[in-house]
Amino acid sequence: MKQVRFEAFGTPEEVAACVEVDDVGAPGPDEVVIEIQAFPINPADLLTISGGYAVRPRLPATLGAESVGRIRAVGADVKHLAAGDRVINLGRDNWCQRRRVPAAQALKMPADADLLQLAMLKVNPATALMMLRSYVELQPGDWVIQDAANSGVGTNLIKLAKADAIRTVSVVRREALIRPLEAIGADVVVVDGEDLAERVRARTGGAPLKLAIDAIGGEIVMRLADCLAEGGTVVNYGLLSGRPCMLGAHHTIFKGITLTGFWLQKVLTGTPRAELEELYGDLARRVRSGALAVEVEATYPIEEIKAALAHARREGRSGKILVLPNGPVD
Ligand SMILES: NC(=O)c1ccc[n+]([C@@H]2O[C@H](COP(=O)([O-])OP(=O)(O)OC[C@H]3O[C@@H](n4cnc5c(N)ncnc54)[C@H](OP(=O)(O)O)[C@@H]3O)[C@@H](O)[C@H]2O)c1
Repeated sequence: MKQVRFEAFGTPEEVAACVEVDDVGAPGPDEVVIEIQAFPINPADLLTISGGYAVRPRLPATLGAESVGRIRAVGADVKHLAAGDRVINLGRDNWCQRRRVPAAQALKMPADADLLQLAMLKVNPATALMMLRSYVELQPGDWVIQDAANSGVGTNLIKLAKADAIRTVSVVRREALIRPLEAIGADVVVVDGEDLAERVRARTGGAPLKLAIDAIGGEIVMRLADCLAEGGTVVNYGLLSGRPCMLGAHHTIFKGITLTGFWLQKVLTGTPRAELEELYGDLARRVRSGALAVEVEATYPIEEIKAALAHARREGRSGKILVLPNGPVD
């Protein structure tokens, strides 16, 4: 079967390749074999290949945080899943044609929900929902501000906030994104810049913002903190600029701003199975109804992983890049 591997850390499309490896074999009693139908290329995957992620795997390495697929075979003791079921894999190493995993790692998904959206269910929607709910108690009508707002996480966050009547300020780095984000429900969309706080205050009527969500790091963290009310919280969850988060003493000492971080991988590890089923059941229902959906810019076969990786690294994409390891999907 085919699998994506990399033998050295470096530029993703240079060091990663699609290779032929032994098939996964039959499932053990408590295992299932999943035929992977789609997986997205996320920034964390790119960082993993370039060696900049929190976890540096032993080389040569396999990767892939999420996928959706179809159960091909179940072990003798597996009762809650059957061949043909659609599942997401809660485990890693998804960039291949088939995975043999413990059955507890496979979560059943609705058969009639959009397949590509389910491929992206594990990471970004869960991240957006947890960041909205875990740090600051927000009431209907409250505002939250976020940067990289056109990203997968950002667009999920806009839609999840809207569903709870929470208003969003979306900070982007391109003017062309204003209308598309308004069209999916963003209340205020602004292009980043030195006078960000004044522009945000003018658009929100000076409402007190308690929560800022940052995927970039560097100086934009200060500009987001400038937009917050006293005692507000900045949640950093990405390192898109590659720079450390910056705050001044006037933020931390005089304004009482708190800077904290969110990492889904760590949160999921400590979450009981019943809560995971509830979380992903809720998100899958929203995908099925069409309430949650992220733009897809292109799909690639697994043999073209290098082109897919190069595409995923481009600035100014209109959506995510996904790979279909077992051919086209309906
Ligand atoms: N901590 C966690 O548990 C967790 C979980 C999920 C995701 N994340 C992080 O969340 C972030 C977004 O992930 P995603 O999958 O939603 O992204 P995505 O859909 O692939 O979109 C990438 C986004 O990053 C923006 N961007 C890239 N480089 C930038 C830079 N130097 N300055 C400002 N913006 C930049 C892009 O803007 P343009 O469109 O203008 O190019 C685009 O909005 C990533 O950093 C990812 O690692 C973290």
